[in-house]
Amino acid sequence: MIVLVGFMGAGKTTVGHLLAERLGLPFADSDRIIEQRSGRSVPQIFAEDGEPAFRALEHQVIAGLLDGPALVLALGGGAAEHPGTHERLAAAEVVYLQVGYEQAMHRVGGDPGRPLLARPDLPAIYQRRLELYAGIATLTVSTDGRAPEAISEDILAGLAREPAANDPVRR
Ligand code: S3P
Repeated sequence: MIVLVGFMGAGKTTVGHLLAERLGLPFADSDRIIEQRSGRSVPQIFAEDGEPAFRALEHQVIAGLLDGPALVLALGGGAAEHPGTHERLAAAEVVYLQVGYEQAMHRVGGDPGRPLLARPDLPAIYQRRLELYAGIATLTVSTDGRAPEAISEDILAGLAREPAANDPVRR
């Protein structure tokens, strides 16, 4: 199980697809699974039920995926803020895709599919999450100004250098 975390626009989905192909593993994106299961889009869930309801659903979906067969799993940018998800990630191989704030905003533009972009405190949310991502990462890769293929190669090289994710002496 390889979990990709990072802020919106870090490239979790694009890089995750490439990585999954290279590793011969299936790929899943927690946002897409939430949408499939609920029959609604992420912005619809935010608008109709509110962010806490989205976070609860997100946690449920991710916990289920982490219990299932091996995957490359891209998480929504805020998933790791849920304490339950955070706890579960402590036992997983977590790849943190780092992205600068300016670059992230450039990549996501004004995407209407990302309700958090409307938040006036987005820079503070970004800052707050940096520490969170770094704290759960077993591997950190910088993405600014870099192509998804190069990022994916870095991850493969990093994973090859690491002991197995379930190695009890690693953490
Ligand atoms: C969110 C990021 C989104 C999605 C939702 C909330 C966040 O995923 O889960 O809009 O809180 O940062 P991406 O990181 O894939 O854009």
